[in-house]
Amino acid sequence: MAHNIRCTSRNICTGIPTSPNLHEVAQGIAPDTRVVYADNDPIVLAHARALLTSTPQGRTAYLDADIRDPERILASAELRGTLDLTKPVALSLIAIFHFIDDADDPYGIVRRLVDELPAGSYLALTNATGDHDPTFEPAAETYRRRGVTMRLRNRAEVERFFDGLELIDPGVQVVHRWRPDDTTEDLTDAQVSVYGAIARKP
Ligand SMILES: C[S@@+](CC[C@H](N)C(=O)[O-])C[C@H]1O[C@@H](n2cnc3c(N)ncnc32)[C@H](O)[C@@H]1O
Repeated sequence: MAHNIRCTSRNICTGIPTSPNLHEVAQGIAPDTRVVYADNDPIVLAHARALLTSTPQGRTAYLDADIRDPERILASAELRGTLDLTKPVALSLIAIFHFIDDADDPYGIVRRLVDELPAGSYLALTNATGDHDPTFEPAAETYRRRGVTMRLRNRAEVERFFDGLELIDPGVQVVHRWRPDDTTEDLTDAQVSVYGAIARKP
């Protein structure tokens, strides 16, 4: 994590807390890191209340909110009372946007959230893709038939989330190719099938 984002971080669409969670990783590097999590699942909320703690030097808050309502997230006491939006923030949108349909204006949601952040902030975002495995689109259709949005996106569609930002090398990649290490070397694009990138707000 870059030095200039060591103090504040925001993780929207938290997921059921596990360990190490985002704040544990960040506070392990910079104990004064502040993190606001947001998710709209009541089960995540119950786990979050029980499991999301913080270092004494940092802060962790949890917000029960839907990402399709970015104004509520931005106006929330949890966010405004925890983060200092005059300093660079890391906005973490991992494994969420394939649950957001085009009709809900996913690019507008990201733009609205990023607009509120100062220069020097970072956006990390991933989205599942059908580019590398022909079975993914039929699987996504199964989700949709059962009432769950599953919007796979191709590389160009994922790149569009980062419009106006400076992509950090190596840009949008299937995520095991983004700074690979010895835990990722046996993976194939088809097995991973998630694009992701990190970008800096100029
Ligand atoms: C696959 S999990 C990813 C969790 C976490 N970001 C991670 O990378 O481990 C997706 C999360 O997004 C949440 N989610 C789905 N749709 C959402 C929405 N419209 N607003 C807020 N959270 C949502 C789900 O409840 C779930 O916890």
